Amino acid sequence: MSPFFAPSRPILEKPATHTDALKARIDPARVPQHVAIIMDGNGRWAEQHGEERIVGHMNGVRGVREALTGASEIGVKHLTLYAFSTENWHRPPAEVDALMDLLVRTVVNEIDELHQNSVRLHAIGDIASLPGACRDTLQQAIERTAANTRIALTLALSYSARWELVRMAKAIAEEAKSGALDPAAIDERTVADHLTTRGMPDPELLIRTSGEQRISNFLLWQIAYAELWFTPVLWPDFRKEHLFQAVLDYQGRERRFGMTSQQVSA
Ligand code: FPP
Repeated sequence: MSPFFAPSRPILEKPATHTDALKARIDPARVPQHVAIIMDGNGRWAEQHGEERIVGHMNGVRGVREALTGASEIGVKHLTLYAFSTENWHRPPAEVDALMDLLVRTVVNEIDELHQNSVRLHAIGDIASLPGACRDTLQQAIERTAANTRIALTLALSYSARWELVRMAKAIAEEAKSGALDPAAIDERTVADHLTTRGMPDPELLIRTSGEQRISNFLLWQIAYAELWFTPVLWPDFRKEHLFQAVLDYQGRERRFGMTSQQVSA
């Protein structure tokens, strides 16, 4: 057959998309175990589309799905999403109510699929401050998925790092006061074990969408050595391809942990 007619690849093979091409470039041996995301830009997305802010949050659920499936596909073991900060309680009550309602509806709608895909749901933050329906829905979903092992999806709800650090300091002080803990023995492990993320590896990669470049009181202790990746993409437009870009960028960086470049390469 003339080479002119020879197809360069089998006709039935699906053409590789940009997303597939990015995914194929990821080194599976160096995927971050823990990715944390500050989901930002729902309000601006809504404004750009001439909609109410809550419509931005509703469309943000697609971003959550994309981030979770993308992370799961490449072997990330922990995905932590900043879904509601302690400061977010100061938003207009109608927006807060709508966000809580959206959280309940999303967990109810997605729980079967999460479970089928071996996703373990977890929540960190001042969970007691959430409305009863939220707490109950979360509790049921957390218990149902407790034995799942593919990926842990942690929702930070009514969370802030300063709230968490104060809580940690109080707990350690109480243990020292009761005699259960020797103050001289307090070390980094003691602190980590009294945080809401106890037992989880620290995030190696922190992503923030919407073009803002700040941490906003998120996981301050845990991100000490995280690589930061910022994108102008608004959260409702976040897709797997953006996660893969972030991971590729992370894999291209030299993580020195205070050492010299020569020491790291040795
Ligand atoms: C920040 O955007 C986003 C939030 C405060 C809420 C995040 C919630 C979701 C993505 C909805 C679904 C989530 C789950 C876990 C079911 P912003 O409102 O601050 O945006 P802006 O800065 O443009 O105003």
